[in-house]
Amino acid sequence: MARHLLTGLAMIVLILFGGLVGYHMARQKSASAHLIRPLPAAATPASAASAAWGSQLVLLGGCNDCHTTKLANGQPNMADMLAGYQPGSPMPPAIPGVVTGNPQLTAWRGPWGLTLSRNITPDKQTGIGTWTLAQFIHTMRTGVDPRGRALLPPMNYQNLGRLPDADLAAIYNYLMSVKPIHNLVHD
Ligand code: HEC
Repeated sequence: MARHLLTGLAMIVLILFGGLVGYHMARQKSASAHLIRPLPAAATPASAASAAWGSQLVLLGGCNDCHTTKLANGQPNMADMLAGYQPGSPMPPAIPGVVTGNPQLTAWRGPWGLTLSRNITPDKQTGIGTWTLAQFIHTMRTGVDPRGRALLPPMNYQNLGRLPDADLAAIYNYLMSVKPIHNLVHD
């Protein structure tokens, strides 16, 4: 009788312990899933707070490093902010097997060919001013823009596209709020 009671108690302890471990694992799983799960659209209104957060993400994401021309001292030329490669800027040298950039860091050459950084200001003719939020997120996630062009290196959509919807929307909201600059970057 006492043995049965002990066995029963041990089983209850085991079941409780198992439950606790399972609960802990589920919590951990949902915590990490939260990091990569896109947030619902309701969390992404085009608010001033979202655009302000987007400006921080644009700084952190180094968008100006490649999408803005540089002054002689290497600092981004904010008069051209995010307008991409400017016609007439030097081209990167062609050295087989080596990735090269121009001094502006707006043109790149590598085994894939030549890439010119794009105008991502909200200019409607030459920038991304006509893009919807959905088109922007699609481009950042898939590396294919609304014109069906596949984005070449060094545009790092592979990692940037892993940001949750709310962060990509914040970047979009910020980009739509900056000064539109008319600058046509040819293919
Ligand atoms: C290391 C350089 C580099 C960085 C950093 C970078 N980009 Fe780019 N980006 C490029 C280049 C180069 C292209 C053009 C690719 C092509 O045409 O194949 C591009 C293209 C794009 C496009 C597509 C535009 C179009 O018209 O198709 C978008 C949108 C974009 N970048 C957004 C961003 C944002 C937002 C950031 C910062 C979070 C960023 N990029 C950071 C180099 C960069």
